[in-house]
Amino acid sequence: MANTILIGAQWGDEGKGKIIDVLTEGADVVVRTQGGNNAGHTVNLKGKKYVLHLVPSGILRRGKKCVIGNGVVVDPVGLVEEIEGLRQMGIRCQGSLFLSETAHLVLPYHRELDAHRETSKGKDKIGTTKRGIGPAYGDKAARTGLRVLDLINPERFEKQLQAKLRENNEILKAFGAKPLSFKAVHEAYRAAGDYLKPFVANTVILLHEALLRGDDILFEGAQGTFLDIDHGTYPFVTSSNTTAGGACTGSGVPPHRMDRVVGVMKAYTTRVGEGPLPTENAEIADMLHGMGREFGATTGRARRCGWFDAVATRHAGMVNGIDELAVTNLDGLDTLETIKVCVAYRDGARQYDYVPNDIEVLSRCQPVYAEFAGWRTATTAARQWKELPTKARAYLKALAELTGAKLAIASVGPGRDQTIFV
Ligand code: IMP
Ligand code: MG
Repeated sequence: MANTILIGAQWGDEGKGKIIDVLTEGADVVVRTQGGNNAGHTVNLKGKKYVLHLVPSGILRRGKKCVIGNGVVVDPVGLVEEIEGLRQMGIRCQGSLFLSETAHLVLPYHRELDAHRETSKGKDKIGTTKRGIGPAYGDKAARTGLRVLDLINPERFEKQLQAKLRENNEILKAFGAKPLSFKAVHEAYRAAGDYLKPFVANTVILLHEALLRGDDILFEGAQGTFLDIDHGTYPFVTSSNTTAGGACTGSGVPPHRMDRVVGVMKAYTTRVGEGPLPTENAEIADMLHGMGREFGATTGRARRCGWFDAVATRHAGMVNGIDELAVTNLDGLDTLETIKVCVAYRDGARQYDYVPNDIEVLSRCQPVYAEFAGWRTATTAARQWKELPTKARAYLKALAELTGAKLAIASVGPGRDQTIFV
């Protein structure tokens, strides 16, 4: 299968969990390289629904090594809960899951600060998942973060946590919030540290040993291109590099060892949280929500919905170097008579074929649409390219052409078998 970076080509929730699960069949190692438990990857398997937040989706297949890389921010208490939840569903992580010792920790004050900063922003809020992601990466960049290494060293952790709580409780007080109790945080985190210790590894060495063996590695992206801290719609972004480069820095695997980039995108667009979404459309949102689709896996929030935005996906193709496309949720459009695709943005007299950086400009941009005839047939039972309606095939081909990458996979439902290799 070769070493593959899989990224979201839109605003997250492209259906990466399912595509990762499908591609994992051919991989030996699956690695998360950025983000934290803000991610929610849904995989439906044999009538059961698994929602993964930190554990790579590869865990659902036996015999795959799953790595939480150095670029991830880890809430240890959350991770323990996730591992235990998987155990109750019959999935064992012991022996398969490896946690980077240099991954940074998310602590309770990160979550508190995330929430209070959001509240104090009022209507300008980002709409974060309130998982403490921004403050945790902030500490990492400020060189004041705690890492997995520290968590599993009880004496060091105790001292560091005392100092961190002193400082952060002052900040919390300034927000008018209750200070955190050292005892409670320390107990919970120490217990999580003991539980996680057997999973902790030098994952850079582990991955390079895998490369030497000729193992195939799948890099599992979280969130999406336009939530990237550098390339997204800043400040309405998450705090990590969600684009392809993040797979290298977040794992320690160098760029020249990457063989291909797969971009996952929905056959339409969604976004959860605030920030510009040029093709947002109330009718398509009502239709999808009415079908029970497009509610967030992490927060349960209803996602904002819109038409497919080829300007955005072309831009994603550029910054990620997308070789192959996986288009998901094609079946979400099955009932439509006409389907629109945004092919350019217009701001007054100016037309854009890329995503402008200035958020004010982007917010003003009006989509220029091309129209496609809907196929008005259920696609959920299709298993092969030739079983798709002609109009659906034409639509998929157009999406790939407009994005500038090769169409490799189309997905027509949540099941593993509802996957068409093109
Ligand atoms: P944060 O990552 O919790 O700080 O949230 C920042 C922005 O990214 C918000 O708009 C979130 O809704 C969005 N976001 C974070 N993680 C995900 C995800 O896994 N899927 C979709 N949106 C996400
Ligand atoms: Mg998600």
